Amino acid sequence: MRSLVFLAYFLPFCVSTPLASKRWDDPELVEKHSWVAVPSGWELHSIPSADHVIDMRIGLAKEKGNELISALYEVSMPGHERYGKHLSKEEVDALVAPHPDSVEAVESWLSFHGVNPDDSSFRSSSGSWITVPVTVAQAERMLGAEYGVYYHAESASYVVRTLGYSLPRELHDHIKVMSPTTYFGTVKSMKTASFIQQEVEDEDEDETATELDAAVVPSSCASAITISCLQALYNTTGYVPTATDRNILGVAGYLEEFANRADLQTFLRRFRSEAVGTTFDTVLVNDGEDDQSDPGVEANLDIQYTVGLSFPTPNIYYSTGGSPPFIPDSDTSTNTNEPYLDWLNFILAEDTIPQTITTSYGENEQTVPFDYASSVCELFAELGARGSTVLFSSGDSGVGGSDCTTNDGTNRVRFQPAFPAGCPFVTAVGGTESVNPEVAVDFSGGGFSNYFAMPEYQAETVNAYVADLGTTNAGLFNTSGRAYPDLAAHGVDFRVIIGGSLFSVGGTSASSPTVAAVVALLNDYRLSNGLSSLGFLNPLIYASPEGFVDITSGSNPGCDTDGFPATVGWDPVTGMGTPDFVALQPIVLGA
Ligand SMILES: *[C@@H]1O[C@H](CO)[C@@H](O)[C@H](O)[C@H]1NC(C)=O
Ligand SMILES: *[C@@H]1O[C@H](CO)[C@@H](O)[C@H](O)[C@H]1NC(C)=O
Repeated sequence: MRSLVFLAYFLPFCVSTPLASKRWDDPELVEKHSWVAVPSGWELHSIPSADHVIDMRIGLAKEKGNELISALYEVSMPGHERYGKHLSKEEVDALVAPHPDSVEAVESWLSFHGVNPDDSSFRSSSGSWITVPVTVAQAERMLGAEYGVYYHAESASYVVRTLGYSLPRELHDHIKVMSPTTYFGTVKSMKTASFIQQEVEDEDEDETATELDAAVVPSSCASAITISCLQALYNTTGYVPTATDRNILGVAGYLEEFANRADLQTFLRRFRSEAVGTTFDTVLVNDGEDDQSDPGVEANLDIQYTVGLSFPTPNIYYSTGGSPPFIPDSDTSTNTNEPYLDWLNFILAEDTIPQTITTSYGENEQTVPFDYASSVCELFAELGARGSTVLFSSGDSGVGGSDCTTNDGTNRVRFQPAFPAGCPFVTAVGGTESVNPEVAVDFSGGGFSNYFAMPEYQAETVNAYVADLGTTNAGLFNTSGRAYPDLAAHGVDFRVIIGGSLFSVGGTSASSPTVAAVVALLNDYRLSNGLSSLGFLNPLIYASPEGFVDITSGSNPGCDTDGFPATVGWDPVTGMGTPDFVALQPIVLGA
């Protein structure tokens, strides 16, 4: 039955024109990307059936090259005449659109291989992404690839991927990335940057602290972080948002993690009583679910702190699915299960997007192929150009955690930068602990990308740090790479309600939503003063050290080293420091 359907579907396009035939008959295939070995944690499970269908995403090269990035910097650089003049969806689409020749070449190639380009299940409004259903047999012919079913034991997930792929030489100028090919990450295999420290006995802590003096951090915050602790630490106590009809804070969730509404109410009753009754919208992306009987640690942490700190600013929780999960041996078609592209293409297709978006997931940069990582990174740049601040947790493994070995076949020990934190167009948030003063927490992810060059906005302060470092860690990190994190916030002992019980949760996953909430309040402040949102924040951060509290001690050990030390000024543990809302208000108004 099934193959009959496919026959009917593909037959009309199998007859290629003589012209196309000459062009694509026997092209010289040039490798686009390959791994030297099966990615760590994955194993080959079986050979997929030749007519198994995968949704192939094709990312096309931009006709206008780097113009989007230039525009992004102009609208994000304080003092620039274009500062804050964010681009509309149509303007961004025009800057990232492919050249007509690229579209023609790709469509001709697809047709030659029996794939009808007009039947694409998804074409982004800019035309820069095409999604077409192809069979494994077609994909293998087109890409000179060999697909396998690979299994990831830790997350019990299966994917259909290849260890390498090629494209006809002519197409290298037209296609940036094809996926699924060599990127193995899935919605389930990604790492969340949070962990439960312990379940907390209900010891009736003095946590509500309603009559707080803005400048005083309650002593209880040394062992238990609550909303009032963070309000005092980051100076947001007493600020009342008013642009609530247009300002939105978004939380991007993966891993089939669900933010629980009843738990939020329990949390608010306890830690932000005037917000009781406030809820959030859940937006389901790519068959994401919203199972209210299955509260997630990460999802609850994120939403309880974003809602609790930004109240009454509306919050949206995006639940991005990877369903239907791929089950080998069943004859079901499957989507690609990717965490980034589906969510990004979804959000970029919306006319209105949240002005602040936080995500607490990531992975080692070296496990993400460069072509895939750079394509995704540029999609974050599109969000920034449209006026959204995109924040990511910097990771919970210091400079690299347990596995510091390179995967390029040389097996050298190197610090392991994280993705997307290492993308220069996101704001990466590291972690602190203690109060009065806060110090860097040892798991705070930080370092230097090997994929993305150091952007101008941070070069001066980062180069000064590297120079001061001398020979420490020399050879273990890339001194010319994009350095992160950009900012930090508290990352341990967060009180979170999960399934009705009180837990203590830690991780830079706690830090990122905290900074996101402060940014949302700053956006509120700008919007209520008739200005635009902040958008891509990094140029402002590095130009305004006085808006942040510098964290000057602690370090982030890993890879059998002490990692990087936190110091005066920027450092790859806590970035430029923690936000001071009161100090940032005049800065963002005058930007
Ligand atoms: C918060 O704001 C007050 C002024 O209201 C200021 O004195 C203080 O230094 C600020 N920073 C922090 C981290 O409390
Ligand atoms: C270091 O970073 C630069 C700039 O991004 C890059 O071109 C280079 O390949 C990186 N070096 C290594 C060893 O990864």
